[in-house]
Amino acid sequence: MLQWYKIDDAQYLKDKGVTEHKFGGKTICLTWFEDQLHAFSRKCPHAGAPLKNGWCERGKVICPFHRHEFDLVTGRGNPAQHDFIHIYPIKKEEKAYYVGIEKGFWQSFLGSKSN
Ligand code: FES
Repeated sequence: MLQWYKIDDAQYLKDKGVTEHKFGGKTICLTWFEDQLHAFSRKCPHAGAPLKNGWCERGKVICPFHRHEFDLVTGRGNPAQHDFIHIYPIKKEEKAYYVGIEKGFWQSFLGSKSN
């Protein structure tokens, strides 16, 4: 089940490259590319590099360590890489942007107990 978190000042991130943000205890990356906001894994699956130090080209985020490339829409790495990153859904309501993050087991459990 997804929990939606509001992204404060999403427009302000437009010229900031790849940035890290924490939502509900989970740290993820956000970036704008060609007027679309994208949300994805914090770490590169190859050797754990922080993708906040990466950059975007041709619709992909490029890892700063060994240049693995990941599609910003599907999360797929280039074919020879055999890896992928997680992509988080983004939605826009009125003028605000939200990112959807799966609830962890304990979040779901504790949430159901308090309802
Ligand atoms: S750690 Fe990202 S490509 Fe190696």
